[in-house]
Amino acid sequence: MKHLAVLGASGHGKVIADCAELCGWEQVSFFDDRWPELKVNGHWPVIGGTNELIETLSQFQGVVVGIGNNGIRLTKLQQLLDAGAQLPVLQHPSAQVSRYARIGLGSVVFAGAVINADSELGKGVIINTGATVDHDCVLGDGVHISPGANLAGGVVVAERSWIGIGASVRQLVRIGSDVVVGAGAAVVADTADAVILVGVPARPR
Ligand SMILES: CC(C)(COP(=O)(O)OP(=O)(O)OC[C@H]1O[C@@H](n2cnc3c(N)ncnc32)[C@H](O)[C@@H]1OP(=O)(O)O)[C@@H](O)C(=O)NCCC(=O)NCCS
Repeated sequence: MKHLAVLGASGHGKVIADCAELCGWEQVSFFDDRWPELKVNGHWPVIGGTNELIETLSQFQGVVVGIGNNGIRLTKLQQLLDAGAQLPVLQHPSAQVSRYARIGLGSVVFAGAVINADSELGKGVIINTGATVDHDCVLGDGVHISPGANLAGGVVVAERSWIGIGASVRQLVRIGSDVVVGAGAAVVADTADAVILVGVPARPR
């Protein structure tokens, strides 16, 4: 029995669970620190918190962290790695991923996403529904590319940055770490770290 644990009983976690079933995982169970008050997440049971997951790790053939916050997701991912968890890459069957792309462990690639040749993704990255990452992009650990966002070729997105829904990034632009790019923004120039950018062209808010 291929049993997947998902840490984080969120809406994002539901998308992970759905994707996992399509990828051949026979059973999906959630863990969340709101357990035991929280007992279900949509169609799936919540059966413990982080401690319970670590205590029972050997019962699961894989663990995915279903936490949207990029910093917290990375911290939990490291905790699980240190405890010896297997962290598979989940790739929806409809995603198009180049055989020449490299994807770090614990990352998820959702329905309709595209990752082109020679792009390199770190650990715990989210490529959300219908997002595109063109050739030669470099994405740091914990980056999230939201639904329908598009990165042109050679874009660099540093650790823990979040590219909002429907945003676009011009080719060869470097986005710093811990940056938030707002929904629908168009980033046309390199950015500093830890800024929030909105608009077309994107400007610090
Ligand atoms: C940019 C963002 C992070 C700002 O969030 P916030 O700090 O809560 O901002 P607020 O909603 O308080 O808005 C503050 C101001 O910024 C403006 N603003 C917010 N988001 C904007 C956006 N994406 N583009 C342009 N302007 C935006 C608001 O209109 C408001 O303007 P005002 O002060 O003139 O009224 C957020 O709006 C956003 O775009 N998040 C991305 C959401 C997303 O991608 N979700 C997908 C998850 S999978």
